[in-house]
Amino acid sequence: MERRIDILDNVFAHFLKGSRVFRNREVLRHDYVPDYLPHREEEILRLGEITAPTLRGSPCSNVFIYGKTGTGKTAVAKFVLNRITQKAKEINSQVRVCFVNCRLAGTEYRILAALCSSINERVPFTGLAVGELFDRFRKSLESQGVILLAALDEIDALVKMRGDTLLYELTRINESLNRSKVSIIGISNDLKFKEFLDPRVLSTLSEEEMVFKPYTAEELQDILMERAKIAFHEGVLSEEALKLCAALAAAEHGDARRALDLLRVAGEVAERRGDTKILEEHVREAQKRIEHDRVYESIKSLPTHSKIVLLSALILSRFDSDHSITGEIYNLYSELCEQLGMSPLTQRRVSELINELDVMGLLNSRVVSLGRYGRTKKISLGIPRKIIIDVLSEDEILKDMLNYKPRFLSSLQ
Ligand SMILES: Nc1ncnc2c1ncn2[C@@H]1O[C@H](COP(=O)(O)OP(=O)(O)OP(=O)(O)O)[C@@H](O)[C@H]1O
Ligand SMILES: [Mg+2]
Repeated sequence: MERRIDILDNVFAHFLKGSRVFRNREVLRHDYVPDYLPHREEEILRLGEITAPTLRGSPCSNVFIYGKTGTGKTAVAKFVLNRITQKAKEINSQVRVCFVNCRLAGTEYRILAALCSSINERVPFTGLAVGELFDRFRKSLESQGVILLAALDEIDALVKMRGDTLLYELTRINESLNRSKVSIIGISNDLKFKEFLDPRVLSTLSEEEMVFKPYTAEELQDILMERAKIAFHEGVLSEEALKLCAALAAAEHGDARRALDLLRVAGEVAERRGDTKILEEHVREAQKRIEHDRVYESIKSLPTHSKIVLLSALILSRFDSDHSITGEIYNLYSELCEQLGMSPLTQRRVSELINELDVMGLLNSRVVSLGRYGRTKKISLGIPRKIIIDVLSEDEILKDMLNYKPRFLSSLQ
């Protein structure tokens, strides 16, 4: 008995002592905004210069920020808004600041509710019409006589979901305000987003424009080094591991989020193995895990018909890979739909789904000639079978179909 207690004591002691790898894991989370953003000084300065007039009670130009994912747009915008908020308190300025992520907010209602709450206008969680909410927002602004600096992050999500009515109203709101003004910082990583916008909205929204470039491997190294100082105990992160994280993330497209993910997961791999130094091998393992999770998530979030197409390719690959041509996939897909009581899409639509799965890397398709019978596509799986089976066996609709025996195969063999 005593021995057992001793063993547990060790477990507790080890746990209480904390990690031997991480000093502060929190700073590697996606929403952490560091105090220092290496290689974004120019962007911070420019956004600071553009928005500074709001501190004196004047509206500033609207700004449109775009750049690829992980280039620091959200971090820079939050950083500057935090500083404006701080300064406003110090000098008792009438500026109000609001940061909304449009994708997470999800609806126009919630975006407007966030804007209202930033000017202390209480609104119910639901129940009002969007137009009504907008009027309350406008009235409240006007009665308070304030400048509102509103950052709309992932603004493309708003427009893709709901069209640009709300943006249109927001960009026009100043025309009907006398004592107050709204200035907007719009942020997007979708470079084609501009094409979706009404030209009038676009021109108002992008009075100023900022483009964030992808980070180079060297820049990512500096970013990682700064974060590693607070995230890990001294001497834990090897230089080679740090360089590899930066190089791998730069090879994709200079994405700081990816670089930080690699660093965090590499730390977790080392910790789990009981190692106290993070080496290149931990980073390689981290890369595999992240890739696995990415593929897993991308399959999981596919629409049902795409999942059935993938399942068809999976089932066919069990038999003879030569049989996986578009026609067979379609036959099996239709059979599966019938079994599931769903109506199948047209062959043409299924071909499009196959192309999409190809672009995502989940299927490989290659055009082959069938001699005088024309051409078809030969299709194989782009990823290990196991991962598809793992995802689909958790799918309520499709899990029972994993071992389905195709009827039409007997006629082919
Ligand atoms: N210059 C930097 N210094 C330190 N950390 C940074 C820097 N740039 C980005 N990061 C960090 O990298 C991650 C991704 O950055 P951020 O969220 O700002 O990217 P983004 O451009 O908004 O990407 P997305 O378009 O996907 O929203 C965040 O955790 C952020 O803290
Ligand atoms: Mg962002």
